[in-house]
Amino acid sequence: MKVIRKADELRAWGANERAAGRTIGFVPTMGALHEGHLSLVSTARRANDLVAVSVFVNPTQFNNPDDLRTYPRTEEADLEKLRAAGVDVAFVPTVEEMYPEPDTRQFDLGPVASVMEGKMRPGHFNGVAQVVSRLFDMVGPTRAYFGEKDFQQIAVIRKMVELEGGFNGLEIVDVPIKREADGLAMSSRNVRLTPEMRAKAPEIHRALAAAVDYARNHSVEQTTAYVVDRINAIEGLETEYFQIVDGPTCLPVNEWSESRQPVGCVTVYAGDVRLIDNIKFTTPTPQC
Ligand code: PAF
Repeated sequence: MKVIRKADELRAWGANERAAGRTIGFVPTMGALHEGHLSLVSTARRANDLVAVSVFVNPTQFNNPDDLRTYPRTEEADLEKLRAAGVDVAFVPTVEEMYPEPDTRQFDLGPVASVMEGKMRPGHFNGVAQVVSRLFDMVGPTRAYFGEKDFQQIAVIRKMVELEGGFNGLEIVDVPIKREADGLAMSSRNVRLTPEMRAKAPEIHRALAAAVDYARNHSVEQTTAYVVDRINAIEGLETEYFQIVDGPTCLPVNEWSESRQPVGCVTVYAGDVRLIDNIKFTTPTPQC
């Protein structure tokens, strides 16, 4: 595996491989890699000649300095995992390499970026759009892979790709959430959970899974209250929001009939660790 730290070197690598007719699958990450990231890598591995992964904790997408400071950084272990997964290129830039000048671009991401995470974390999605558009420019991937845990992020990235003219036909591929055996969605933040909170956090997925059944005979409003009450009943878990939205647009749904692909998105504080998760309410379509 080639470890590249310079943007120009990455650009040259991508240009050569494309010119030779090889397809490139790209997985952008912020490191602290776990099985969820590795499932993106193996999905990319199956569909492309080459796989590139970036490991970069992007400061422009953090609106909380403490969150940026405490975000886990485990470069050596990450590179080992990527080597073992058969990755061709790991791109590990410094902040100065990614942003030689401050990025002042404001993306007109529209309604998809103004609800849920967009509302709770102002500027977050603009920062994601900044870094991901830079990475796409450097790598020139054929396909890019994103985990469905960050459900809204995928919709935002699709919007950014459209705004930027498509990056030469780049395909955005979403990959299902990878879960621990007890149902907790895998996340780099899970390592920060105290043992007590780690034991309680699987209730988030249990509540979401139970809500799919509950929704068959209850309205959107009742289902929302059911999830929030069930999670908040566990001491130490506090729901920041639970919102049922239309999958493709991420816009709130008030009646089941308003969406063919409703998705319930939740953010929960488990102690001081902010966790996110979601569930699809697809089959059978709720009747309320
Ligand atoms: O999902 C993430 O880890 C980040 O938001 C991403 C896409 C790597 C951009 O920094």
